[in-house]
Amino acid sequence: MVARPARLTPPIECVRLHDADAQLDGVIAIHSTALGPGAGGCRLWTYPTMDNALTDAVRLAEGMSYKNALAGLPFGGAKAVLRKPAGEFDRAALFRAFGREVEALGGLYITAEDVGTSVADMQEVASVSRHVAGLPGRDDRAGGDPSPWTAKGVFEAMRAAAAVALGRDLAGLAVAVQGTGNVGAELCRLLADAGARLVIADPNPARRDRLARILDAHVVDPAEIATADVDIFAPCALGAALDRASVAAMKARLVCGAANNQLATPDVAALLLERGIAYAPDYVVNAGGIISVSAEYLGESEADVASRVGAIAPRVAALIERAARERRSPAHVADELAEDVIAGAQRVAA
Ligand code: NAI
Repeated sequence: MVARPARLTPPIECVRLHDADAQLDGVIAIHSTALGPGAGGCRLWTYPTMDNALTDAVRLAEGMSYKNALAGLPFGGAKAVLRKPAGEFDRAALFRAFGREVEALGGLYITAEDVGTSVADMQEVASVSRHVAGLPGRDDRAGGDPSPWTAKGVFEAMRAAAAVALGRDLAGLAVAVQGTGNVGAELCRLLADAGARLVIADPNPARRDRLARILDAHVVDPAEIATADVDIFAPCALGAALDRASVAAMKARLVCGAANNQLATPDVAALLLERGIAYAPDYVVNAGGIISVSAEYLGESEADVASRVGAIAPRVAALIERAARERRSPAHVADELAEDVIAGAQRVAA
């Protein structure tokens, strides 16, 4: 197997966000602007330290550079990470303070929803900044919550990957979905319609139990979902679902899900390959959300979004086929392709 060089490491610009009155504490990480302004969502999450938030922001921003490049979007990679204040807080004031920071960057960073943030939060940002998407759509213009597009892209990618890697249609296959939030829940609905059997896990019972009832899904403990006895594992919670222990015990033959940064460490890609588990690279699969967000920002139509989301499944199938031919991890093949796109833009700009 050919070893892969380290990922791109251009200088990463990090803008520290702090406004004590609004309880704003976080960071905007801008990883690459070779293809255009840095675009990536805003995460609101509980981070014990600022260092934890910074590490997450940098990793997520890097992932956005690769995702935007392979999705063919005219954007670089960036991400905002906000530390969730403990206890009660004024959400509107916090997002307006964040929006002022986004506006001050003059379009170098474009924000939208991510884990922990909503359309209402982005409307607060929009009251003070132009550089935001994920706002309610109008007529046939792109816009609104991007997660249904993400779920559609994941679903279609899964169907294409199952055909290539398992030689099967989704009907009758068992799929373990980790996380029944915005994307996971919609993915479950699409999978149930396609005749797949569902196993789900989420520490938050609200959506999980309702889905289990409506879709006749089997609920397991979050600690068991990655190694459930299924055909496909779909990580749709937070990152790092695939580590050495979970992959060593995995029964699924294909991993395809929405979560960003699924590989806990780079060596896990090789372990998946060794175990004969096909891997649909996370940032290729889950590009539907940023495709919607970028089309909204550029004033494009829903039809443009549908056509770009439709290109995800054939891209994933081609990646898995090529990786199998070359006996390499699809994650490495995807990284190389994305790096070529970014390097090409850097050469043109030089
Ligand atoms: P969400 O916050 O709506 O849902 C995440 C769910 O995961 C929550 O219900 C949470 O309780 C659950 N969860 C947390 N830890 C878990 C665990 N250990 N086991 C099982 N469930 C667990 O987030 P959303 O929007 O559905 O995103 C899911 C993933 O997809 C995230 O990694 C996000 O970064 C990624 N993603 C989302 C996009 C979008 O359009 N929303 C776009 C691209 C990626």
